Amino acid sequence: MLRTKIKEILKNGQAEIGSSLCVKGWVRTKRGNKNVSFIHLNDGSTIHNLQIVVDHAILSEETLKEATTGACIGVKGKLVASQGSEQAVELMAESIEIIGPADPEKYPLQPKKHSLEFLREIAHLRPRTSTISAVLRIRHAMAFAIHQFFHQKGFIYLHTPIITGSDAEGAGAMFRVTTLDLANVPKNPDGSVDYSQDFFGRSTNLTVSGQLEGETGALALGEIYTFGPTFRAENSNTARHLAEFWMVEPEMAFYELEDNMNLAEEFLQYLIRYALENCSDDLEFLAKRESEEEKQKPAHERHELSLLERLKFCTENKFQRLTYTEAIEILENSKPAKQGKFKFPVKWGIDLQSEHERYLVEKEFKKPVILTHYPKEIKAFYMKLNEDEKTVRAMDVLFPGIGEIIGGSQREDSYDKLLARIRELKLPEAELWWYLELRKFGSAPHSGFGLGFERLIQFVTGMSNIRDVIPFPRTPKNAEF
Ligand code: 4AD
Ligand code: MG
Repeated sequence: MLRTKIKEILKNGQAEIGSSLCVKGWVRTKRGNKNVSFIHLNDGSTIHNLQIVVDHAILSEETLKEATTGACIGVKGKLVASQGSEQAVELMAESIEIIGPADPEKYPLQPKKHSLEFLREIAHLRPRTSTISAVLRIRHAMAFAIHQFFHQKGFIYLHTPIITGSDAEGAGAMFRVTTLDLANVPKNPDGSVDYSQDFFGRSTNLTVSGQLEGETGALALGEIYTFGPTFRAENSNTARHLAEFWMVEPEMAFYELEDNMNLAEEFLQYLIRYALENCSDDLEFLAKRESEEEKQKPAHERHELSLLERLKFCTENKFQRLTYTEAIEILENSKPAKQGKFKFPVKWGIDLQSEHERYLVEKEFKKPVILTHYPKEIKAFYMKLNEDEKTVRAMDVLFPGIGEIIGGSQREDSYDKLLARIRELKLPEAELWWYLELRKFGSAPHSGFGLGFERLIQFVTGMSNIRDVIPFPRTPKNAEF
């Protein structure tokens, strides 16, 4: 008999009462008495469990001995209307197969509340919890929606390399890729590493962004996007940073900053709406979980809006747009600035800290904010210089609870200006020859941005730590699994 997924069975009208079915999954709980046992079975297709009813007149208690929490079992039986109030249907078992037992003395996931910190230590088993499985299903839905959004708009999915020689962000926080023997590194006469003997005959690293290669696509195919893993070796142990994270980077010819902002706003609203329309079971579970967690917290640490309200709020309100300079004025005149409450003092030219971003979003405007025209000193070399020659056509999208979710800009399309900036910053001009040539041959105004995929998932699921929205988080001193 073919296996039916629990999601299909529970979907209204999908499986007929009285039909014979086979299900396979993992036992969440087993309870009962001498006459009857109830097993809650989950197969990962949905947040909901299927209740299996075992009448001991048909199947002895002995057959269920190994059907303990965590065990993998297969059940054949008849679908019946449930007598209990918690579910509409249940499966009356006719036979049970123990596919993979789980020693109850050793299985670490018991049917009780485990902390998220503990679950990170058993990342190989945590997808079997309701919370992490809900997050992973939503993560899948968001990845699918990203491709759908761009595909419908005619963007081309471009696969940019993961191993690269360029440092797109100029931040210097990169992981090196090498096959050199670390115990015996070949050296040049001047003592520097002789990369000509390395695998690629040059120094290489894991990419921090697919943007530079993405631009080559935009200036040929018109509108492209990359969606892949990116790597940053910054030593940031925060709830919003990973050393390996996924980034979505569209890049478009003939888009100016304004068009770029419009696309970013439409994109985020589309994704959040997609989640609301397609992930309601998982979102409702996570919303309930959050509100229960928050009961333990002091009032000022609770969200003003529930998870679902926060999501709807972002789809129903236009994002607030303002310049960096305007934002600095607001921050300078804010209560926390006047009372000396910001850890990092505010003045024109500073790189905004997450406390500043969150003040703007959560206190001042109470909606997503797009900040533009940042000082050129705090942004990457490729951003288009404004007429004032002080600021660049950058845009950061700031979200409640998250801070920066998107970073992007219009790109410098003038060969001379880009070259001057590269020299000013003493960037490796020779290595950027191909990037410069894009401005020499058929240059065009173009723009793009990068969405941190995990930060999006954090916002949509309400999970407060980024380590809980990726299957296997990579952070400083942590690459287990
Ligand atoms: O602002 P960033 O550094 O921008 C770029 O890399 C550009 N090349 C993007 C572009 O214009 N194509 O990173 C973009 C986004 C951030 O807004 C943030 O959401 C996310 O990537 N991000 C991180 N997410 C998790 N962990 C980290 N360490 C991250 N660093 C950036
Ligand atoms: Mg940024």
